[in-house]
Amino acid sequence: MNSVAQAAVGHSRATAIFTCILAALAGLMFGLDIGVISGAQQFIQKEFAVGDRTIEWIVSIMMAGAALGALGAGWMSGHLGRKRSLILGAVLFVAGSVLCGMAWAPYVLIVGRLILGVAIGIASFTAPLYLAEIAPEKIRGAMISLYQLMITIGILAAFLSDTAFSYTGNWRWMLGIIAIPGALFLAGVFFLPYSPRWLMMRGRRAEAEQVLFKLRGNPVEVNQELSDIEQQLKVPQRGVHMFFQNANFRRSVGLGVLLQVMQQLTGMNVVMYYAPRIFQGMGYNTESQLWFTAIVGLVNVLATFIAIAFVDKLGRKPILYVGFVVMALGLGVVGTMMHLGIHSHAEQFFTVGMLLIFIVGFAMSAGPLIWTLCSEIQPLKGRDFGIGCSTFTNWAANWVVGVSFLSLLNGIGNAATFWLYGAFNVVFILFTFWLVPETKGTTLEEIERNLMSGKRLREIGR
Ligand code: BGC
Repeated sequence: MNSVAQAAVGHSRATAIFTCILAALAGLMFGLDIGVISGAQQFIQKEFAVGDRTIEWIVSIMMAGAALGALGAGWMSGHLGRKRSLILGAVLFVAGSVLCGMAWAPYVLIVGRLILGVAIGIASFTAPLYLAEIAPEKIRGAMISLYQLMITIGILAAFLSDTAFSYTGNWRWMLGIIAIPGALFLAGVFFLPYSPRWLMMRGRRAEAEQVLFKLRGNPVEVNQELSDIEQQLKVPQRGVHMFFQNANFRRSVGLGVLLQVMQQLTGMNVVMYYAPRIFQGMGYNTESQLWFTAIVGLVNVLATFIAIAFVDKLGRKPILYVGFVVMALGLGVVGTMMHLGIHSHAEQFFTVGMLLIFIVGFAMSAGPLIWTLCSEIQPLKGRDFGIGCSTFTNWAANWVVGVSFLSLLNGIGNAATFWLYGAFNVVFILFTFWLVPETKGTTLEEIERNLMSGKRLREIGR
C-alpha cells in the first residue's frame, strides 16, 4: 500500500474509533442511571415521608422500563435505524432526568424513572449493536468493551456525585444533574453516520458505501464488506419469523439469552445496588461505607481496561474463564468470612479486599464480554430481534437479582447468599467451555455462515 493509501486508512481508523466512542457514550447514561439511585433513596424517603414499598417501586420501575425499551428498540432500530433510535433514547433520557429532578410527588418520580428506564433500554440495545456494525473486526472486541467502560464510568460518576450532594441532602440535583451529560450525548449523536449494514437493509447501497469508505478507507475492504452484507441479505427471513422457521437462529437467540442470565447471576448488581449495606454487614460505619462504595466504583472502571487491552489478543473465552474463577473465589471467600464472623480490622480489610477482587473478576470479563458476544453472534437478518431478546433478558434478570437480594439475605443468611452466587460462577465456567464461541478476529459474516451451516455453538467463531 502506498503512503497516501496508508494515510487514508489511518484517518478512517481514527474516524471509526471516534464514532465508536461517541456511540459508547450511551453506556455512560446506562451507568449514571444504575449508580444514581442508591445515594438518593434515603433523602427521597425523608422528603416525601414514604415507606420502603414506594422506594422499591422508584428503584425497580427503571429496570422494568429498560426491559420494555429494549423490546421496543428491536423494532425501532430496524425501522427507524440505529442512529434515530439513539436520538430518541437521548431525548427520553434528558426528559426523564429533568422530570425526576422536579418531581413534586412520588408518582412523578416513578413516571420519571420509567421514562429513564425506557431510554436506557433503547440505548443498551442500540449502542452495542451499532458498535458491532461499525467497528473494524480487528478492534471490535475493544470497541464494544469501551461501551462497558462508559457504563462503569457512569456508575462511578453517579456514586461520587451522590456523595457530594449528600452533604446537603439534595436528591433533586443528584437525579437532575444527569440531564447535562444526556444533552451532550444528544448533541453528539447527530454526528454519527448511519450504520452501513442498516443502510444496506433499506436498499441504500450508495450511502452504505460512502459511510464504509469513511470508516475503512480502503476500497478493497469496503467492497468485500459490502458484498458480504449483500450475501447475507439474500436470506429471505426476518426477526420473529426467522425465529420460528430457523433452528440455527433459535440457537443463537438462546445463547444470547443465556449469556445475559449468566452476566446477571454473577451477582455483580447485588454489589452495585447494595454495596453500602454489604459494608454495613462487615461492621463499617456510614462514612466508610460511602468511601468503600466509591472504591468499588473505581475498581470497576480500572479493571475494565484489562478487558479492553486483552479481548482482541487473548480472545473472549480465556478471559471469561479467568473472570468466572476469580468471581467464584472472591464470593466464596466473602461468604466464608461472613460465616466465620468478621471481628478484627484485619478480617474486615481482607473481606473488603476479596469483594474488590470479585469486582475485578467481573469488570475484566463478564461485564464487557457478554455485551460483546451478544452483539457478535446474531445473524444480520435476525440481529435486531436476537439482541432485543438478550438485552431484554439482561434487564429482566437484573430486576430479579435486585428484588431478591434482601429476601435471600433474610431467608438463607449472608454467607449462603454469597456462596450461592459463587456457585453460579463455578457453573458458568462449564457453560463457557461447552457453549461459548471464540469470536476473536472473525468477521460477523463468517460467524453467521458458521452458525447457519449448523456448526456447534462453541465453534461458530472459527
Ligand atoms: C451490566 C450491569 C452492571 C454493570 C456493572 C453491565 O455490563 O449489564 O447490569 O450494573 O455492568 O459495571
